[in-house]
Amino acid sequence: MKFGYFDDANKEYVITTPKTPLPWINYLGTNDFFSLISNTAGGYSFYKDAKLLRITRFRYNNVPADSNGKYYYIKDGDTIWNPGWMPSKTDLDSYECRHGIGYSKWNSSKNGVSASVLAFVPTDDACEINQIKLTNNTQSVKEIKLFSYVEWCLWNADDDMKNFQRNFSTGEVEVIGSTLYHKTEYRERRNHYAIYHVNSDIDGFDTSRDAFLGAYHDNHDPEVVTNGACTGSVAHGWSPVAVHQINITLNPGETKSFVFVLGYCENPDNDKWESKNVVNKAPAKKLIEKYSTDADVEKAFDKLNEYWNNLLSIFTVESANDKVNRMVNIWNQYQCMVTFNMSRSASYFESGIGRGMGFRDSNQDLLGFVHLIPERARERIIDIASTQFENGSAYHQYQPLTKRGNSDIGSGFNDDPLWLIAGTSAYVRETGDVSILKEMVPYDNDMSVATTLMEHLKRSFDFTVNNKGPHKLPLIGRADWNDCLNLNCFSEHPGESFQCFGPSEGPVAESVFIAGMFVKYGEEYAQLAELLGDTAEAERARKEVKIMYDTVLESGWDGEWFVRAYDAYSNKIGSKECEEGKIFIESNGFCSLAGIGVKEGLAEKALDSVKKYLDCKYGVMILQPAYTVYHLELGEISSYPPGYKENAGIFCHNNPWVSIAETVIGRGDRAFEIYKKTCPAYTEEISEIHKTEPYVYCQMVAGNDAYIPGEGKNSWLTGTAAWTFCNISQYILGVYPTHKGLSIDPCVPHGFGDFKITRKFRGATYNIEVTNPSDVEKGVKELYVDGCKVDGCIVPFTEGKTSYNVKVVMG
Ligand code: GLC
Ligand code: GLC
Repeated sequence: MKFGYFDDANKEYVITTPKTPLPWINYLGTNDFFSLISNTAGGYSFYKDAKLLRITRFRYNNVPADSNGKYYYIKDGDTIWNPGWMPSKTDLDSYECRHGIGYSKWNSSKNGVSASVLAFVPTDDACEINQIKLTNNTQSVKEIKLFSYVEWCLWNADDDMKNFQRNFSTGEVEVIGSTLYHKTEYRERRNHYAIYHVNSDIDGFDTSRDAFLGAYHDNHDPEVVTNGACTGSVAHGWSPVAVHQINITLNPGETKSFVFVLGYCENPDNDKWESKNVVNKAPAKKLIEKYSTDADVEKAFDKLNEYWNNLLSIFTVESANDKVNRMVNIWNQYQCMVTFNMSRSASYFESGIGRGMGFRDSNQDLLGFVHLIPERARERIIDIASTQFENGSAYHQYQPLTKRGNSDIGSGFNDDPLWLIAGTSAYVRETGDVSILKEMVPYDNDMSVATTLMEHLKRSFDFTVNNKGPHKLPLIGRADWNDCLNLNCFSEHPGESFQCFGPSEGPVAESVFIAGMFVKYGEEYAQLAELLGDTAEAERARKEVKIMYDTVLESGWDGEWFVRAYDAYSNKIGSKECEEGKIFIESNGFCSLAGIGVKEGLAEKALDSVKKYLDCKYGVMILQPAYTVYHLELGEISSYPPGYKENAGIFCHNNPWVSIAETVIGRGDRAFEIYKKTCPAYTEEISEIHKTEPYVYCQMVAGNDAYIPGEGKNSWLTGTAAWTFCNISQYILGVYPTHKGLSIDPCVPHGFGDFKITRKFRGATYNIEVTNPSDVEKGVKELYVDGCKVDGCIVPFTEGKTSYNVKVVMG
């Protein structure tokens, strides 16, 4: 069942009922100011950091879900309604929410009045703009009242929901005309405040939540709206809100438009005040002035659209498959940008007060983002590398505001270092910018021990070389990519963190997955060394890679698939010898995509086993059979009920690894079958089961063992976005950036047909036409660049050349 439809021409998903299975959200903001916004106008805003600079308050895990946001109440006689339906939940005569790229729009109507709301964050300023247009579609004059409503968060979102003994006494506001100022803590250590403004005269305001709602009411039926009159409350402590009242007369056919600005403003420390305890309003006035008319809003909105149209013109495909076109050209790349910006901090499943930026997560997010804004990827790589330790290991997470490693979690996740090679290699292959490798980068933010980034990569590489276990496989530490495979944890008491409990330097437990990563990214490291002219280092690296390759075949092969790991007693995990958890996806996907066992025919065998044992209708499960009891020696993985999360769920992130591996051995049909199973454009049809947004990937879909297989969770912030984009663009459609130029080597399902790709790469535009006269899955028979035949599949890059016409004949 569907709850809306894709409007590809406008790059929008159109939701046609407010009663979606879960709140379906969108993200507004491109740089510093962000809002999460649901199809019923729920959500919140923050500046830079979802925990420390939260602007509006959200009520987590509330009933009903998603019950705080930026709301507009329309009072028309005795009827009170909201264009987004929530929170009054008054039945609407019509409702439509369009989630677009960086904006959301509503078109709703009730009793002859229609409301259209446009919400977006402009590219240049720290604010969210809401333009609301009200139209009288009846033959008689309408007298209506419009109430705006946001509830302020007292900045630190974590403290805000815990520390009531203090927070109920700190709230402060100012009201000047149509501008409501939130200035809690400004009198002491903050140099920032927030504003909520409307570009018209107002007929009333409230800034105290209690005054607005009334005792024992909630935002479903605020007393002020029912009474039709604000009280003019000025909040002192308790919970400050911002409410405007505008009384509106609409003649038949008339439309009136209002522009609301929710802004974040900063003053220099020495210029905070206008007079004693009166905030300096200069930045607020500037912001208000800039967005004071509809024309200003349209200009800013055009600019936002232009920004996105430019970004989304970097990689486009035109194929006979609408769903592929839609995901590649619009939604998958959009989600890559969002995950790059948010990491795993703020979504409807990540509270914004928990995790910072993940070392491995951010490096992987880069893979799907680097072609969009390489400069920002460059900066991110340096930030990440700056939290590495001198021995090559790394903080698992860092805080975006301070950019410092997070000591609560510390280090010891032994896959982390290798992801830095992955991210850096992707950046250099994309841009050709070797200078990044020579940047001086600190360790643990200490500049006195800085080395070049290339030296960081060397230490990443050597961390694996120097930390091997009894089978000469890489030691796993606290966990590898699978945060829940905690082989050194042995936690017996609830409340202990599986990730942080127990020793990280377990000398025995080993990961075959990290071995696969080492083979893949070890080769990429060798290529970077070659680029810098260090052939000796490249040779050394390749020797180590070869040793690891052989080790995997010797100790990481189980007969029909790759073993997953060895536990702290050196027992196999992911082997036919095991009772539960006999086969895992990660080692099979990653070792095969790294090329291990391809020439020996083992990769093919492993992938066949994946299909046989792990495949299900909704994707490829992470392991089988599910763990049915808690295994002390395995940790969190066995803590989940069967079918969920890392215990036999479909962890979408690693499905593309298997799909990519299938392209490596040339099986386009199977690669695409896997692609389709988790692809939102395909799962849209089963939205009632899948539940999460049909335009973005979610982290996890319940597997066969679950109560409702196919049910999705944790949408938006997942490495699935980047990896599926790599899969479809670089492996299935086959346009892969190499150091020498773009390689074009598609691997498609039978019947996929001819297709065209436009790719901007290192300052040039590539118009690529792929034909497939014999309908093969893989193989490039002929490659022509500007009419000249070229050997192989790489279009050689020529500095200064700005356009390439490329024809590829598969066969
Ligand atoms: C979460 C984490 C990611 C990890 C994955 C598997 O998505 O953000 O770092 O690799 O879970 O455990
Ligand atoms: C839990 C989740 C895992 C996530 C981790 C982050 O273990 O199952 O997906 O990566 O928390 O700390």
